Amino acid sequence: MSHNLLKGKRGIIFGALNPDSIAWKVAEKAHEAGATLTLTNTPVAVRMGETNGLAEKLNTIVIAADATNVEDLNNLFLKSMEYLGGKIDFVLHSIGMSPNVRKERHYSDLDYNYLDKTLDVSAISFHKVMQTARKLDAINEWGSVVALSYVAAQRTFYGYNDMADAKALLESFARSFGYIYGRERHVRVNTISQSPTITTAGNGVKGFDRLLDFAERMSPLGNATAEECADYTITLFSDLTRKVTMQNLFHDGGFSNMGMSLQALQQYEKGLHKDCNCGDEIPADGEEHLYD
Ligand SMILES: NC(=O)c1ccc[n+]([C@@H]2O[C@H](COP(=O)([O-])OP(=O)(O)OC[C@H]3O[C@@H](n4cnc5c(N)ncnc54)[C@H](O)[C@@H]3O)[C@@H](O)[C@H]2O)c1
Repeated sequence: MSHNLLKGKRGIIFGALNPDSIAWKVAEKAHEAGATLTLTNTPVAVRMGETNGLAEKLNTIVIAADATNVEDLNNLFLKSMEYLGGKIDFVLHSIGMSPNVRKERHYSDLDYNYLDKTLDVSAISFHKVMQTARKLDAINEWGSVVALSYVAAQRTFYGYNDMADAKALLESFARSFGYIYGRERHVRVNTISQSPTITTAGNGVKGFDRLLDFAERMSPLGNATAEECADYTITLFSDLTRKVTMQNLFHDGGFSNMGMSLQALQQYEKGLHKDCNCGDEIPADGEEHLYD
């Protein structure tokens, strides 16, 4: 359901690779909410992925750009402003990639060239996007820049590897650049810390299906879907959140503030029962409310 929250606004969406991508859903919802936008992804992703199909559907163009390349970013902002007919009101950074994760390097045996790449693609690109936009004065007053993050920036998650460090840096950029951009141009900068979501990038994380199940059981509202993430992102692009900036905003069904839930405990106890033969310690059904 559209509320025309973005009527008349212009945006740039990074990272829509295929219909599973969170950015794909954000682009669709932004269009539905009345915005005009351009799409961007790496030249390889544009060739191999489905970004062009989305552009056709949303009646727009794809401008290929490697987000680690400042020249590409310059071209992207200039072409987007030309195509959309004015300055930009919102930007979504929805980019993540770790060669260490891809090649299954253990965190205590990282390849440092890969680590450089992880940080450059997944975090420093966010700084590059904002620095480029600011130098070109490409974003309107009260514009909104959002990047997608994950709770591994704050807490340790098995298998998330050097992406955790990239996310911590990403969130720090939101604060540091958010200060400058807010003070000078009233541009907001935030990160959304999203639940595990089935996408191409998500599936690359070791044990992802179990992580997804664990998060689902731990979250009182359940995992947030990509579509729900898109809804939340639209509010941050809209004028309803003009004084929200420099924040990392959890969009995770409550996961980040949980310690142990009844559902996760029950699942854990099943494992204990099987492995340790200690079923006597499991509370009877009627007593389970004690653990809520
Ligand atoms: N899927 C999850 O569980 C989850 C959870 C929390 C946060 N996130 C974050 O959401 C964002 C989007 O990921 P997704 O899950 O939609 O997966 P996705 O694989 O659909 O999107 C990742 C995108 O990054 C793009 N990309 C990679 N290198 C790039 C570069 N150099 N320049 C420009 N683009 C580049 C890819 O082409 C792809 O479109 C990422 O930042 C990811 O870390 C994902």
